[in-house]
Amino acid sequence: MKQKIKKLSNEVNAFKFESSDDVENFRIKYLSKKGLINSCFDDFKSVSPKDKKEIGKLLNQLKISAQKKVEGYNSKETNTKNHKKTINDITKPGEIISEGSRHPISIVRNRIVEIFSNIGFTISEGPEIEDDWHNFTALNLPEHHPARDMQDTFFIEKNPDYLLRTHTSSVQVRFMENNNPPIRTISPGRVYRNEAISARSHCFFHQIEGLCIDEDISFADLKQTLEYFTTELFGKSEIRFRPSYFPFTEPSAEVDVYWGLNNETDHKMTKGTGWLEIMGCGMVDPNVLKNCNIDHEKYTGFAFGLGIDRIALLLHQIDDIRLLSENDIRFLKQFRSSF
Ligand code: DAH
Repeated sequence: MKQKIKKLSNEVNAFKFESSDDVENFRIKYLSKKGLINSCFDDFKSVSPKDKKEIGKLLNQLKISAQKKVEGYNSKETNTKNHKKTINDITKPGEIISEGSRHPISIVRNRIVEIFSNIGFTISEGPEIEDDWHNFTALNLPEHHPARDMQDTFFIEKNPDYLLRTHTSSVQVRFMENNNPPIRTISPGRVYRNEAISARSHCFFHQIEGLCIDEDISFADLKQTLEYFTTELFGKSEIRFRPSYFPFTEPSAEVDVYWGLNNETDHKMTKGTGWLEIMGCGMVDPNVLKNCNIDHEKYTGFAFGLGIDRIALLLHQIDDIRLLSENDIRFLKQFRSSF
């Protein structure tokens, strides 16, 4: 048996390929189902157990070297073919490289991040699976606080102290726990709410949280920052603050930007009012500062939170939020950006 393998091995090594027909003949003779190497494997069954290890090894080596010989020829062949193809006609127009496109959520997020980075805000992130303290309690929403119902929460079944964060405000808390003022940071991320999925709402979406803490920060600083932001993002600087309620800010407000009513789209976007609601904000409640071990006598600050999906839908006139997560390539291909 050993002799036979040795003989075949020499034959395989000596075989010269001159054309693809030679390769095919070689393959049939040695490697096909009824080929010589396979017939050795059949004979192998009757080899005595003590020789099996040695002969098995030789047989495998033979098979691998025959296979490599064929593969080597084939890849050399395609290389030369490709090479010939590329130098065939140098006047031919180049092949079109299909360009990827960014997701509309990423386009809007990157733009917003850029706008705030330009005025010194850092970027921070936190976990999507959050604990009760960071998502609720530290944000002035103790257990049984009625405002917890403002956001329908997905709890982790086995341990309800953990949940899917309902807002990126949880990152505020984490950031304040780990950094001393002055603080200027924005936190983009995905959030989850237990809501029925429809054209207008989804069980997950994206937010950007903003936080600024220092000595003598006032509502005027908040207003100026947001005016700068809306001018950069929408090209519109007229904004209004409507009194509102969030447990983690006092006073709290909702911000509208004046969009205008120049055409039908404006009417549709602003529901005929000319104003577009874009975010919630306010002065950070001293209780929140206390919970995060920040001296609330010395420091004040503002915070805001905005929905990225909503802004992407508005800016691109998309009328169904589900399109943003369906991954339909025809939809996604329409977006182009340099961000
Ligand atoms: N966390 C709020 C929400 O998801 C948004 C928000 C409102 C964030 C006011 C803030 C804020 O930081 O000050 O509805």
